[in-house]
Amino acid sequence: MTNPQIAVIAGDGVGQEVIPAGIRVLSKVASLDFVEFPWGADFFARTGSMMPHDGLDVLANFDAIYLGAVGWPTIPDHVSLWGLLLPIRKAFEQYVNLRPVTLLPGITGPLRDRQASDIDMLFLRENTEGEYSGPGGRVHVGTANELAVEVPVFTRTAVERVARVAFSHAQRRSGQLISVTKSNASRYNYVLWDDVVARVGAEFPDVDVQRVHVDAMAARMVSRPDTVDVVVASNLFGDILTDLGAAIQGGLGLAASANLNPERQHPSMFEPVHGSAPDIAGMCRANPIGAILTGALMLRHLELASAAARVEHAVADVTRRAQSLTADLGGTASTDEVADAVIDALGDM
Ligand code: NAI
Ligand code: MG
Repeated sequence: MTNPQIAVIAGDGVGQEVIPAGIRVLSKVASLDFVEFPWGADFFARTGSMMPHDGLDVLANFDAIYLGAVGWPTIPDHVSLWGLLLPIRKAFEQYVNLRPVTLLPGITGPLRDRQASDIDMLFLRENTEGEYSGPGGRVHVGTANELAVEVPVFTRTAVERVARVAFSHAQRRSGQLISVTKSNASRYNYVLWDDVVARVGAEFPDVDVQRVHVDAMAARMVSRPDTVDVVVASNLFGDILTDLGAAIQGGLGLAASANLNPERQHPSMFEPVHGSAPDIAGMCRANPIGAILTGALMLRHLELASAAARVEHAVADVTRRAQSLTADLGGTASTDEVADAVIDALGDM
């Protein structure tokens, strides 16, 4: 059997630090072939684009993509996002963005009286449309009458497919699904969303669905996190709520995510939630745990579930002991020292 072929785009800033740490950990538990692509801000400086014109064709041949972060202060963020990340998510129909929010043992989040068992949420963010669809324009640029319109797009197909994946996760977990919308203020988009979720729900009579508005959801994640299990949300709401989720977990450096093409017609892409962190880049201070847990999501997608579980347990061991933590968690360890501690913990199992 040939090894899974993984395309690596470490990208910019701390992406260059956390992805090598993740690769070191993953290589201890599974045989994977990693092929690196030097795409991102430096590539843009040399060529004027974030990746080569045939970049998507190159990536299409891989089993998965392991990505760090893309974006750097020298390039407008909408240029870097639309030049690499969004084309990959869209071309490869990675229509689910899966983001677990769990409190690791030993981490004191802002909800410090909560236990690890109270915080275990799974977000499924619609990853292809909504506010990230693209139609719009600017007219009368530079004049007092300048006007911009940008139209969020919601389609039955896209809502239905992400809802179905969310229901099936809810069925395997608590049987509870929260659908996040703003269907009081929005009269069309989120009303369609609610209709479609209700229709898909009829296929899953054993799952109980709650509709929660995004503002109330933000409050509930902080005030009653133990009542939240599986959540399905639009692209923008999912993005915002999972940064809140990352803060509840103890910080962006801990949060993992997967851009999934559930039908496996195209490669899925695995990236920590955080960005390139220019403020700490190059200092070996970036927390690699988000990238390492992202690697565990990739192993699970590659049907290497026991290797994934070994990585997750080793990370939990490291946070529980609280001896090797990076500065964002109040420790003094470097990126590599945390990766080494995870590798040591693997050896103990
Ligand atoms: P950011 O996630 O890079 O940083 C926000 C804060 O979190 C910073 O204070 C940073 O030091 C901290 N942080 C992030 N990752 C950390 C880690 N691993 N360990 C410890 N602390 C960490 O978000 P920001 O500053 O809004 O964006 C910076 C650049 O990254 C921008 O160009 C943005 O477009 C890009 N970006 C890319 C993403 C991606 O590739 N998926 C996601 C978010 C931002
Ligand atoms: Mg984000």
